[in-house]
Amino acid sequence: MSLHLAAKPGVIADTVLLPGDPLRAKYIAETFLTDAKCYNKIRNNFGYTGFYKGHKISVQGTGMGMPSISIYVNELIKEYDVKKLFRVGTCGGMNAKIKIRDIVIAQATTTDSSMLHNTFGSSINFAPIADFELLNQAVKIASEKKMPFYVGNVLSEDRFYNDEIDREKLISYGVLAVEMEAAALYLLAAKYHRQALAVFTVSDHLLTQEQSSAEERERSFNDMIELSLETAIQSR
Ligand code: HPA
Repeated sequence: MSLHLAAKPGVIADTVLLPGDPLRAKYIAETFLTDAKCYNKIRNNFGYTGFYKGHKISVQGTGMGMPSISIYVNELIKEYDVKKLFRVGTCGGMNAKIKIRDIVIAQATTTDSSMLHNTFGSSINFAPIADFELLNQAVKIASEKKMPFYVGNVLSEDRFYNDEIDREKLISYGVLAVEMEAAALYLLAAKYHRQALAVFTVSDHLLTQEQSSAEERERSFNDMIELSLETAIQSR
């Protein structure tokens, strides 16, 4: 048991999927895992452990934003020795070629988070990046399954609502999409020498203002989860 997780030692798998929304953790456990058991209800940030194709996998809600996901990632690594962490969530499309429902895999992150400067000081701009083995495996699987996907730089912003970030400039430098957690996950994975990958579905688009319907969101969400689970078990 840690401060925010109620699991007994050994209950959480060495591979964990991390949706922001705890109800998505429940949905993933009930839809994709067999024999899934809930190990955490603290703050209603549900966590489950079950089996995917015979492999033990956990799924843990993280809440929104980098301060929140950092709590769960720190405790999963330090208290439960988790080795592979997959952020699964939605993002806003920023690049014109990206469409609603596409999958975006974060090769690297760009962020306004103070966590980076608090870690390295203001003279270093550390680049939080994906684990190459997981990234490579995910690209292979998404290609085989003919999923529509893009790989590149993702903006992890501290505030959903802000007028200060020059998104046009970031788009012109090739940033594909925006979300709120991946940079913190990649930073902590680097600190503790763990493998991490962030995979998203595009739920809305900043340029076109398009939004996906609930049914479309569910279908592309399922593709993203399948991609993450297959990457997890095929990279062992
Ligand atoms: N901003 C931040 N996070 C997001 C967005 C967005 O527009 N869409 C989905 N997650």
